[in-house]
Amino acid sequence: MKKFLVTTFICVVALGYSSGAAGFSFDRHWEMPIPLQGKAPADFSDLESSLNPESCGECHEAQFSGWEKSRHALSMGPGIVGQLGEPWLDKETIEMCLDCHAPLGEQRIFAKNKKGGELEKNLFLKTGLHKKGLVCAVCHLRKNIRYGPPASQPSQIEDPPHGGFVAVKSFNSAKLCRPCHQFEPWGRRINGKLLEDTFGQWQKSLYSEKGVQCADCHMKERAHAWKGIHDKQMVQSGVDIVAERAGGNVTVTIKNSGVGHFFPTYVTPQVIVALVVDGKVVSSKNVGWKVPLDLSEEEYDTRIPPGETWRAHFTLPDNVVGGSGASITVTVHPDDFYHRFYESLLKNPPDGINRDLIKKAHEESGNSSYILYEKVLGF
Ligand code: HEC
Ligand code: HEC
Ligand code: HEC
Ligand code: HEC
Ligand code: HEC
Repeated sequence: MKKFLVTTFICVVALGYSSGAAGFSFDRHWEMPIPLQGKAPADFSDLESSLNPESCGECHEAQFSGWEKSRHALSMGPGIVGQLGEPWLDKETIEMCLDCHAPLGEQRIFAKNKKGGELEKNLFLKTGLHKKGLVCAVCHLRKNIRYGPPASQPSQIEDPPHGGFVAVKSFNSAKLCRPCHQFEPWGRRINGKLLEDTFGQWQKSLYSEKGVQCADCHMKERAHAWKGIHDKQMVQSGVDIVAERAGGNVTVTIKNSGVGHFFPTYVTPQVIVALVVDGKVVSSKNVGWKVPLDLSEEEYDTRIPPGETWRAHFTLPDNVVGGSGASITVTVHPDDFYHRFYESLLKNPPDGINRDLIKKAHEESGNSSYILYEKVLGF
């Protein structure tokens, strides 16, 4: 362990980080595009030099099997890839999308040429890696050096693979997630509110004050799962829902008891609370931030900030005696905005989009809904 710490220290200094892990900075870590890794050290095997997540997985099985099933592994899914064509998006915009969806220098479609800084075909593009989205190397590798949290168990390894790693104490910080889960202050706003503000919402919450980081909820025990709105159990862990009937009146409360930001955090999901009688929705109310596809204005914003409670009242129809045949359901549509958006793209397909992929994305985004909560109101 000692031996390898010394070696990485030397490597790191040689590469311009002034003092090993102490010189680590999130700003430099997230310089975009992530610079090419360059030639791996001569003593690295092919396996140690590879940027493919499957290669990392040969030795880091637990992290790979978690990552593989996560949304991060889907970040180059059909909905995005189907849009990465000119003239629908210009080169600059495509590269901007890849800053969050496939940010390694080796994953970029275009790269700046040396002279004018104009974007041209990226000669270092690895197509297979491009398709894999948010791979391990995006968070953990810079210039072939591994960065990670301090080891969970002291290492016994004399001469560790890939030259060991640089332990960064704050690796689990919210700052690791910030570049992709937060727009800069000058980013797109609707009704004064940033379209993507997850880090900001967290920063203003008690969680941030108490030092609870994104990873503490989304990577419990360092698991690489990043469950969120698409996962019923994860959402259940963050909200308390109560539906109560008093005569013909029904009250539903949803408390954001364990989500470290708004529930839900942005415009893409909708949560629908419905009074259902004999299988038919009688009335419903939405929790979410609804905006039209052109993002021109907000229709409503009923998201629930951390710790706060949302309340709705329903009245049972007169013919429903004692709540018989009636229930309250809470349904989550994780991809509501995208589903509407793909639908409009397919109606009037612009040049540059891949219709087959958008069709697939339309289908998938229509199938991700689930019932989060159901309460029968009868006797
Ligand atoms: C600042 C980071 C960031 C940038 C830049 C960005 N995205 Fe995303 N994108 C995200 C995040 C985070 C999500 C997941 C949250 C959500 O559903 O909105 C996402 C989700 C998506 C989805 C839904 C994906 C799916 O698998 O269901 C699509 C489609 C998408 N982005 C397309 C784009 C396109 C096209 C661009 C460029 C015009 C772009 N994004 C730029 C961060 C970003
Ligand atoms: C979105 C960023 C991100 C991606 C992608 C990612 N990791 Fe991690 N990884 C982290 C964070 C953050 C931690 C530390 C979590 C903590 O300390 O709570 C971590 C921890 C680790 C650890 C230390 C685990 C332990 O128990 O000590 C290993 C090994 C690791 N990651 C390997 C991988 C591999 C292999 C992949 C790809 C299959 C991968 N990571 C993908 C962010 C990421
Ligand atoms: C040949 C096996 C092997 C391969 C391939 C491999 N690793 Fe590792 N990795 C290890 C071992 C063993 C350690 C522990 C080193 C130590 O304890 O000093 C480690 C340590 C790490 C750590 C530090 C864990 C911590 O506690 O913070 C990270 C991060 C990491 N590897 C990421 C990766 C990524 C990303 C890849 C693929 C690009 C990869 N590794 C490929 C074997 C491997
Ligand atoms: C390089 C950009 C990037 C980084 C860094 C990053 N993410 Fe993501 N994250 C994304 C994108 C893009 C998506 C959407 C993928 C999709 O659905 O297609 C996403 C999706 C998610 C989701 C959504 C799950 C769901 O059900 O919709 C969660 C939770 C998440 N990330 C948590 C984290 C956490 C925690 C960190 C920091 C440890 C982190 N992310 C770091 C880009 C990033
Ligand atoms: C106290 C625990 C907790 C903390 C801290 C936390 N989250 Fe979450 N997060 C959740 C829960 C629970 C959900 C599922 C409910 C939901 O979707 O809002 C969630 C959902 C998400 C989603 C899915 C999309 C959505 O609409 O809600 C993303 C993306 C996300 N979190 C990113 C982050 C990032 C980035 C941070 C840090 C800045 C963070 N989270 C901090 C608990 C937490």
